[in-house]
Amino acid sequence: MDALKKILVARLAPPEVLEKLKAHFDVDYHDGELPLTAEALRGRLQGKAGAYITGTERITPELLDACPALRAICTMSVGYNHIDLAACTARRVLVTNTPDVLTETTADLGFALLMATARRMGEGERLLRDGGWKSWRWDFLAGAEVHGTTLGILGMGRIGQAIARRGRFGFGMQVAYHNRSRLPAEAEGELGARYLSKEALLREADHLVLVLPYSAESHHCIAAAELALMKPTATLVNIARGGIVDEHALAAALRERRIAAAGLDVFEGEPQVNPELLALPNAVLTPHIGSATMPTRIAMATLAADNLIAALTGAPPPTPLNP
Ligand code: DGY
Repeated sequence: MDALKKILVARLAPPEVLEKLKAHFDVDYHDGELPLTAEALRGRLQGKAGAYITGTERITPELLDACPALRAICTMSVGYNHIDLAACTARRVLVTNTPDVLTETTADLGFALLMATARRMGEGERLLRDGGWKSWRWDFLAGAEVHGTTLGILGMGRIGQAIARRGRFGFGMQVAYHNRSRLPAEAEGELGARYLSKEALLREADHLVLVLPYSAESHHCIAAAELALMKPTATLVNIARGGIVDEHALAAALRERRIAAAGLDVFEGEPQVNPELLALPNAVLTPHIGSATMPTRIAMATLAADNLIAALTGAPPPTPLNP
């Protein structure tokens, strides 16, 4: 019998997924709480044919050149901005991600963050725990309306559309969006979604949700000039990647109440969070938990493992990025 192919499981994985991988491969398991350093990752990937990673492992051309045995990189995430896809393709390294299985769960969190932000739930919780709830008052923690308002979505992929459905059918919102490419008329009709230029979307949205992929093109695509176009009563929600927003400009806009509030699940330097944001009462901050429900995380891990098994056994992987 041939020796099993060697793989690295670079982050903690559900036990049943680990067992599945062990049935196919000789598994080197990094069972630490924290990600491997870049140097340790390079060391552990030596001689490995495949890697099961998450968004915390950066795959660079230098790393690929140092690990020539690598044939497949399977990330347990839908986002893949941590992987240099062109460099992988050039070296014939197959890359997969985990789309679809997290769409609805991530949209749920996006909507929860929108609600918590508009209705000042973070402020209310802190105030109550700190003993600051003294009495009822007509304008006590009065926030922004959600139902019937205009929901702006920047990035109308699977998750953007799932948020649009929640807004339109759950909350009677008017949906407007901007995307690199416009949706087919039928999809726009089903979602009741109006296509706008980015500038018009910024001007019109009462609640703007960022759901676009992170790339050199989308880096800081929400900065001072864009924030200046938004309504002073508007809220901004980011569930995509921290680097899409210029956090310093956002903190200034929130501090000076040039926009009302922001809900952020992702941060440019995460897990470090810009202290300017931490100091703001009108920012609701969550630690990158968009897809964090147990069933969804198990589905993502299973799909990443299935991708790796297929990729290294010559079968077509379910969700390839560079087939
Ligand atoms: C994703 O799947 O891209 C989530 O952001 C988790 O990393």
